[in-house]
Amino acid sequence: MDLNSKPIAFVIFGATGDLAKKRIFPALFKLYTQNLLPTQIKVICAARTVYTSESFQDYVYENLKIENRAAFDDFAKTIEYLPIDVAEDKNLKDVTAAISKFEKEVDACPQTIYYMSIAPDIFSSAIENLGAEGLNISCSVHNSKPRIIIEKPFGSSLESALTLKLLLEKYFDEEQIYRIDHYLGKETVQNIFAFRFGNEIFEPTWSNEYIDHIQIITSESIGVEKRGEFYDRAGALRDITQNHLLQLLSIITMEEPKGFNPKDINERKLAVLKDVKTLSPEEVAQSTVRGQYEGYLQEEKINPKSQTETYALVKLEVDNPRWRGVPIYMRTGKKLMGKVTSIIVQFKDTRHKLFGDLDMKPTPNHIILQIQPNEGIGIRLVAKKPGLETTIEPVDMEFCYKNTFDEPQPEAYERLIMDVVQGDQSLFISQEVIEQCWRIIDPIKDAWSSNKVPLATYKPGTWGPTEADELLKHDKRDWLTPFLTICKI
Ligand code: BG6
Repeated sequence: MDLNSKPIAFVIFGATGDLAKKRIFPALFKLYTQNLLPTQIKVICAARTVYTSESFQDYVYENLKIENRAAFDDFAKTIEYLPIDVAEDKNLKDVTAAISKFEKEVDACPQTIYYMSIAPDIFSSAIENLGAEGLNISCSVHNSKPRIIIEKPFGSSLESALTLKLLLEKYFDEEQIYRIDHYLGKETVQNIFAFRFGNEIFEPTWSNEYIDHIQIITSESIGVEKRGEFYDRAGALRDITQNHLLQLLSIITMEEPKGFNPKDINERKLAVLKDVKTLSPEEVAQSTVRGQYEGYLQEEKINPKSQTETYALVKLEVDNPRWRGVPIYMRTGKKLMGKVTSIIVQFKDTRHKLFGDLDMKPTPNHIILQIQPNEGIGIRLVAKKPGLETTIEPVDMEFCYKNTFDEPQPEAYERLIMDVVQGDQSLFISQEVIEQCWRIIDPIKDAWSSNKVPLATYKPGTWGPTEADELLKHDKRDWLTPFLTICKI
């Protein structure tokens, strides 16, 4: 980036929270040390805890767990801390003052960016207070519009998402709003576009004519950790399925965008999400499984009678000519056997063509896009086993990022923050897309809360409740291994 480009006032509300600690500061620090941010940057950190700028800089340093204090000290100079309660409008004027001071220092109107790294329940009052303070208008000369970054969950239902929209619209235009789904910042998620639209060989087979079904998985081995209070209200369906998994679904099934720009990508995403069938309560009972890991009720800040799911399996269908009849199984859970995010596209079994008479198990082709960890792509083919007899066996061809490219992969938050600085909305979510996601998820959520689907349990360290395996068996299918083999080495 041109280091002399427009100065940036980067304001983080909720600067002492988990997200800031784990994702925002590491990303900012990396971008800063790689000279990817303008040299004139002020990181204004606001939260309720009382710190001075110096003590907060020490706090950030400790959390970054880096050894090179000298490199950090340079970055630390950009950090200013303000004890502020944005929800209660306490000391919010100090933000205005800090931005004005910076404006004078650099003698220019900086591009202001607000990062709302705050709990969902104080979001509305925080936005109202920003508006009342006039922070939706940038610096005194009014010649630049601030950008605002908001994190999921964007509401907790279609209705609340619409309320949130009205509130945001009062103060910000759509072009100022950057709704983050950090999965879209992952290198391998972006690579799905290259894989699908840059390789002519796959596109002709990308339909119900050749594809049997798709499995999308995001599993985690960790539990709810310190986020019990938030998680117990959200659950797996709202925490992961409504956003990360539906985003992956939309990219793997969308039609080719006319151009690689925010408008065209959003148009295609929206179109395919609109085609996802809404499930009736009866269909929810047949097509979903919800589970809770054993021991969840004893976790910190969890209601001991909680019915919140830590595992969700949802079977959906995109009801359009390309995809009609192809089930898409999306599963996610905490405390599962391992951490992995993958999309597996299983093709129909065509062995009847030439090898139908051979005594062998079905060996359909599949493609696995491993999003994380050990990012890569695998294709399962069949090959003749060397020997006098004709025996066909499955073989895997794998491409691993780390063996092929020397360049390190930027973290999702680095990419996304960089995009906000540059004003590129391609990897962010539009309001219309959010509304579609809630349209798909609301009936499932409602059927689950009225107990139409019993809450199953599962042992930590497994792949989830047995009910999920049964659902697949009922469809005469099996779970496919979501890990590539070679990339692990
Ligand atoms: C977040 C969820 O959006 O994604 C967390 O709120 C989850 O519950 C996290 O742990 C997983 O992200 P990643 O990048 O580690 O797969």
